[in-house]
Amino acid sequence: MPAELIDGNAVSKKVREDVRARCAALAVRGVVPGLTVVLVGEDPASAVYVRNKEKGSREAGMNGATIRMPATTTEAELLAVVDQLNADDAVHGILVQMPLPKQINAQKVIRRIDPAKDVDGFHPVNVGKVLIGETDGFAPCTPAGVQVLLKEAGVDTTGKHVVIVGRSNIVGKPMASLLVQPGADATVTICHSRTPDLAWHTRRADIVVAAVGRPGTITGDMLKPGAVVMDVGINRIQDPTTKSGTRLVGDVDFASVSPVASKITPVPGGVGPMTIAMLLLNTVRAAEQRAAGQGA
Ligand code: GUN
Repeated sequence: MPAELIDGNAVSKKVREDVRARCAALAVRGVVPGLTVVLVGEDPASAVYVRNKEKGSREAGMNGATIRMPATTTEAELLAVVDQLNADDAVHGILVQMPLPKQINAQKVIRRIDPAKDVDGFHPVNVGKVLIGETDGFAPCTPAGVQVLLKEAGVDTTGKHVVIVGRSNIVGKPMASLLVQPGADATVTICHSRTPDLAWHTRRADIVVAAVGRPGTITGDMLKPGAVVMDVGINRIQDPTTKSGTRLVGDVDFASVSPVASKITPVPGGVGPMTIAMLLLNTVRAAEQRAAGQGA
């Protein structure tokens, strides 16, 4: 029997409806949440993400704005823009789209963002809050979205062994931080490119989170029957049978995994749609916290 699909579009719609209702409640108090995305350079994939973020924020009833800067932007110029946004009371959330051009130190830019406006959850203050289980900060959108998907799919993580494949600061590490907290109560293993015998680990997992950015990393023979598989990968591969000549796939080999797993997120339509929904949720929370006078 093929695995049940976890519908990220449906869950993301539910989250966005909650956000819209909360924006409407803030509007009554004269507050319109503002989300400003900064895009440096012309990376086509980033341009698509940024357009979708602005569109999503407007649909939710926010002031969505995008600042576009050339690929030749200096670090000082970008830091000056971040300073302006930090000082702007109409802006509740700031997101600097990654990756940044080589001349800019991304960590330096992330540290410059006011943690109370860091709706990406990348600032060390928010990273630390997630790790110590303080819930008034911001968790990174993609792992937070995976956690919501698990809940909505009826997957209780308590006492479950979750094997995370990938140790990025955006997904793997914060995913582990979230799932190990009291309330989520999972036993967590993080695997990465230097882990010998990856399959030995994944075969012991009740839940596998694949976040490495390489198609076909997880195959059916690497899983325990009935495992839940969360595919965070978004990879564009050549496919001459499609009109565009390319196709989006995850990190999971869907054809071999689906007959073995109990539930799986498809690509597209799984984890992907959750990322923007969680960004909007973080932004409305930032606005609510400021309205209540308790910005982090
Ligand atoms: N690039 C790819 N994903 C992300 C994300 O979640 N936030 C930012 N700022 N850049 C990204």
